[in-house]
Amino acid sequence: MSRFNSEYPSAEHLMAKARRRMPGFAYDYLTGGCFSEVNLDRNIADIRNIQLKPWYLGDFDGASQETELFGETYDSAFGVAPVGLQGLMWPKSCEYLAKAAKDHNIPFVLSTVGTASIETIAEITEGKFWFQLYHPAEDELRDKLLERAWEAGCKTLVILADTPTFAYRPKEIRNGLSIPPRMSLRNVFQMCTHPVWSLSQLAAGSPEFKTMKPYIPKGLNLKHLAQFMNKTFSGRLTETKIKALRDKWKGNLVIKGIVNADDAEMAVKLGCDGMIVSNHGGRQLDRGQSTIEPLKALAPEFKGKIKLMIDGGIRGGDDVGSALACGADFTFMGRTPMYGVCALGEYGGHHTFEMTKKQLQQVMEQIACEKIEDFPKHLIS
Ligand SMILES: Cc1cc2nc3c(=O)[nH]c(=O)nc-3n(C[C@H](O)[C@H](O)[C@H](O)COP(=O)(O)O)c2cc1C
Repeated sequence: MSRFNSEYPSAEHLMAKARRRMPGFAYDYLTGGCFSEVNLDRNIADIRNIQLKPWYLGDFDGASQETELFGETYDSAFGVAPVGLQGLMWPKSCEYLAKAAKDHNIPFVLSTVGTASIETIAEITEGKFWFQLYHPAEDELRDKLLERAWEAGCKTLVILADTPTFAYRPKEIRNGLSIPPRMSLRNVFQMCTHPVWSLSQLAAGSPEFKTMKPYIPKGLNLKHLAQFMNKTFSGRLTETKIKALRDKWKGNLVIKGIVNADDAEMAVKLGCDGMIVSNHGGRQLDRGQSTIEPLKALAPEFKGKIKLMIDGGIRGGDDVGSALACGADFTFMGRTPMYGVCALGEYGGHHTFEMTKKQLQQVMEQIACEKIEDFPKHLIS
């Protein structure tokens, strides 16, 4: 059954609707970046600068979006990037997106700090999900999380290169973002003026870090919870940590946040199966490159050696096509599916994925690209 809603034919329409439905602090958390948000804007602008060459007069047998990745055949070449704290932005959005991704046969990546547990997402996706690990400081916790993910059927582990530090995000600092939201006068006012959000939160129960819940001591106040999380994870990924993960994890190992050839070389050397060229959606290093630029630079050397993926600035099927043309084997979106759920609730993910597939199909048919892997032939610049 189609869930496409013609009132919202683009990410921008969904974003505008989401803005009306969400309290400001939740909207800021979803849409914001670090420092002056230069990197966030650059991701979007640079991917939109890519130009594709159409062929109009040759034979064309129709376009298929089917994509092989790590032994799975997906219905398209995009998936859902890991996003933490989804339940704060829209109640149950983590669960809704996992279900929509499963129904659309595209990968869903659960964050360690997502608001649904590994086991819940495994049940919803029938074990077809990826897990993104924030690296625990203690080996024992790392091993427990790996074991839980593996036992739940997860075959692909995503580790993070691009979060060596706690980010500096002015909007979050001003809003005092925490889970549950800090009860400042401004935040309370925003909740009161967004009753659908507030009532849905009440019905769903306060969002929690469900995967981490068994390890969080009971009765922590907010300040102590933040201190606990800070102590529990050690952000900087090193050769030693990657080697240990490679030894322990029997499935596919994907490293996210690679943006230069030296790190890419190291990822290949250490036996990673895939890398996601990413800058965390412009949330970590404001003066860094957009993601499409390093993808173009890395593709000639690394495509074929390791699965090359990208996220950052992808707002629809046209952006997916541009990223594939620049050499990506696969793409991910972080904010766009969240805009879908925040705008339209339970079926917002279905709408967003249907929209993205429709857009990608139009691009493929317009330029006469029959297969996902043929996109690079259409790259002009
Ligand atoms: C609100 C928000 C929370 C995020 N949380 C995580 C996270 O927990 N783990 C992670 O690996 N990436 C996280 N990311 C980064 C995304 O996985 C992805 O790299 C980024 O959103 C891609 O850019 P896009 O939003 O332009 O698609 C988050 C992004 C956003 C917007």
